[in-house]
Amino acid sequence: MVRAAVIGCGDVSVVHLEAIDRIDGSELVGVADVDPEVAGAAAAKYGVPGFTGTTELIEAVRPDVVQISTPHDQHVDVALACLQAGVSVLSEKPVAHTTAEADRLVRWSAEHPEAVVGVCFQNRYNATSQAVRDLLSTGELGAVRGAFATVAWHRSPAYYAKRPWRGERVRAGGGSLINQAIHTIDLLQWLLGEVTAVGGRAGTYLLGEVVDVEDSAQLILDHADGVRSVMFATNTAPLDFPVSIEIVTEKATLLIRGDLTITYADGRVDVVPERRAESGGRSYWGVSHELLIADFHAHVAARKPFWIDPAEAVKSLAIIEQVYALSR
Ligand SMILES: NC(=O)c1ccc[n+]([C@@H]2O[C@H](COP(=O)([O-])OP(=O)(O)OC[C@H]3O[C@@H](n4cnc5c(N)ncnc54)[C@H](O)[C@@H]3O)[C@@H](O)[C@H]2O)c1
Repeated sequence: MVRAAVIGCGDVSVVHLEAIDRIDGSELVGVADVDPEVAGAAAAKYGVPGFTGTTELIEAVRPDVVQISTPHDQHVDVALACLQAGVSVLSEKPVAHTTAEADRLVRWSAEHPEAVVGVCFQNRYNATSQAVRDLLSTGELGAVRGAFATVAWHRSPAYYAKRPWRGERVRAGGGSLINQAIHTIDLLQWLLGEVTAVGGRAGTYLLGEVVDVEDSAQLILDHADGVRSVMFATNTAPLDFPVSIEIVTEKATLLIRGDLTITYADGRVDVVPERRAESGGRSYWGVSHELLIADFHAHVAARKPFWIDPAEAVKSLAIIEQVYALSR
C-alpha cells in the first residue's frame, strides 16, 4: 500500500485526491494547506487528518509520498522538506517558478539518486502523445520537417482575482507560458528532441490591469537535427480552444487536436482517439493525471527513479525563461 498525502488543497488538488482514492494499492493518509479552513474542508471531505504545515503533516502521518499542488514559488521548499524527511515527492508543474529555484531540487535529486521525485506533466501519458512518440521513434514516417502548436485559452480577470498569485510574477514566475502552455512546450521538446535555440516574445495585451505576467507569447524553438517548431500561446482567447500540435514529416502530417489524426502522403487517414477517462477536474487539465499518479506510486513502491524527474522537468522551464529574457 502506498500511503499518500496532498499539500496545497486548492483547485487542482481535487484531481490528486480523487486519483489517490481510485488507484488500487494507494491510500490517502492526510492533507495540508497553509489556510486552515481549506485544510479543514479537505480533511473533512476525504476523512483524513488535516494540517497547516508540511513538517506537522509528515511527523503525524509519515506518508510514503507527498503530492504538491501549491503555488509555483512554494514547490521547491515543500519538496525539499519532504525529501529530507525521506518522503517521495510528486510536484505539480512547473518544477519551480524560476530555473534558479528549480536548480536547488535538481542538485538535491542528483546527489540522492535513491530518492523518487517526479513532476506532473500528465499529457505525456495521453494516448495521442504516446502514439506520436512511438511513430516518430520508428523512423517509418521519414524525417520530421517541423511543427506548429497553439494554446489559445480564456482566463478571465476573475480567474486571477480568485487566486492573486497566478497573476504575480514574483510568485507564479510568469503567466500563460509557465502556467498554461508549459505542457505543450514540454511535449514539443519531448516529441521533437531537446531545444538548442529559443526565439520569441511574451507580452501582456489584454489583462494588464489585473496581472503583471504575460497573457500571450510566440515561440520559435530549434530542436536537434535542424527541426524547428513554432508556437502561439494566449490566455486572451474568447474560450478554451483545443490545444493543437501539428507535426509534418516526409511521409505524413500528425495533428493532435483532441484525437490524433495521421494523414499520409498517399491520402490514407488514421485516427488515434484520445481516452475519454474521467479526470475529476476541468476538461483542459486533460485525461491523464490519474495514469501519471498511478505510475508514480508504482515507482515509489518499487523504489525506482521516476522518468519525469526535476532535471527532465526543468527543460520546459528553461525554454520559457529564455523567452522572458528576450522580452524584457
Ligand atoms: N497539471 C495540470 O494540468 C495543472 C492544472 C492546474 C494547476 N496545476 C498546478 O497546480 C498548482 C496549484 O494550482 P491551483 O490552481 O490548484 O492553485 P490554488 O491557488 O487553487 O491552490 C493552491 C493551494 O495551496 C495552498 N498553499 C500555498 N502555499 C502553501 C504551502 N507552503 N503549504 C501548503 N499549502 C500551501 C493555498 O492556500 C491554496 O489552497 C500550481 O503549480 C499549478 O500550476 C497543474
